[in-house]
Amino acid sequence: MGEGTTRRAVALGLGGVSIVAAGGLVWRAHDAGVLGAADSPAYQPWADWRDEPLHGPLAIVRAGILAANAHNTQPWRFEVREDHIALHADPARHLGAFDPFRREMHLSLGCALENMAIAAQAAGHDAEIHPESGDLPPGGPDTSLAAVMTLTPGEAREQPLLNAIAQRHTHRGSYLPVPAPQDAQQAMRAMAEAEGMRLVLYEDGPEKGRLGELVVSATETIIHDAEMAQASAAWFRFTRRAVEEHRDGITLDAAGLPPLILAAAKMLPSPGAEAADRQWLEATRAVHVGTAPLLGMICVDGLYDRAATLTAGRLWQRLHLWMTTQGMAAQPLNQPVEIVDREAELGREPAMAAALAQLTGDTEMRPTFVFRAGYALRPARPSPRRPAAAVIA
Ligand SMILES: Cc1cc2nc3c(=O)[nH]c(=O)nc-3n(C[C@H](O)[C@H](O)[C@H](O)COP(=O)(O)O)c2cc1C
Repeated sequence: MGEGTTRRAVALGLGGVSIVAAGGLVWRAHDAGVLGAADSPAYQPWADWRDEPLHGPLAIVRAGILAANAHNTQPWRFEVREDHIALHADPARHLGAFDPFRREMHLSLGCALENMAIAAQAAGHDAEIHPESGDLPPGGPDTSLAAVMTLTPGEAREQPLLNAIAQRHTHRGSYLPVPAPQDAQQAMRAMAEAEGMRLVLYEDGPEKGRLGELVVSATETIIHDAEMAQASAAWFRFTRRAVEEHRDGITLDAAGLPPLILAAAKMLPSPGAEAADRQWLEATRAVHVGTAPLLGMICVDGLYDRAATLTAGRLWQRLHLWMTTQGMAAQPLNQPVEIVDREAELGREPAMAAALAQLTGDTEMRPTFVFRAGYALRPARPSPRRPAAAVIA
């Protein structure tokens, strides 16, 4: 057991993992969902996407709902017509003080648009995306419409990222000490440049260390900010029942724990929100930052520009799908930008914005998305999803 793993086990109060075998807790296994995520209806949308025909607008929605999205809030509604799909934000499914400008909500909608565009083109549509313009004000925009995707019949075109849609999962476990190849990094930078964005990647040196420090210090700030901590905890789903009922949120299955620790964590009583936050901070330090071969940032011109935010979300989804095809693992670590938002919302001194600008040497193109990438021993587990039928208006 590696150092990070041991520390996480201790943080979870799992010093004696052998209790799983010896302690008579096995009876709880089914109830707690220990037998795995895939046996639950909350994960059916992943199978639906693979099994149902890639045909018509519904297939496009089935791809959209599998996208990455902040805290697995799934903040979307789809208005489906024969010749277009209107993508709306679901204003009730937000992260409150964690996302005061709904910037992460719009990044999430952008992720959905990218999956939709890939599915549409594979299904023989010419898809054009028309994003709403304007800024993201505090509290988010008044109108829910985020973008319209027009669909005209065209040639079905092979999409190299299509199969990755159901294989991509956020990986929160330990990464191996294996560097990301230079040509992979170059390919990722080129994807960003094609969208007029800048991708900053650090694989070693003081900049990587500094960005790691900012991720950890931002996490500390978040867990000591009662409103942010509460807004985040509202999306924790630590029991099987909560997963089944909500089919969203952050689950134990997606925490990246080694199998035995995961099984034990599920059978023990749910950690309270405070314990979960402490565990998150410890995992951020020891595992997320501590084992990351590559830290990166997507930088945009217009941090609160609605269309640019949607495009940045599309870019993250494309990068993560592409990394999936390369056998790479990835995890967003967006805490520093969440603090930038919080400082702006509260009119505080923009200390985190200044720290990020100092790091990138750029005050124009500002980071909107921070992540790590690398290679992992085991694949990541899926997160639950509400079915397409539940999110079609
Ligand atoms: C805008 C945005 C911000 C995110 N921030 C984080 C983060 O800070 N830490 C993390 O572990 N995951 C983060 N995620 C990943 C989501 O939690 C994840 O996409 C969601 O739970 C669904 O899981 P999946 O990506 O495995 O399908 C973020 C995703 C998006 C789109």
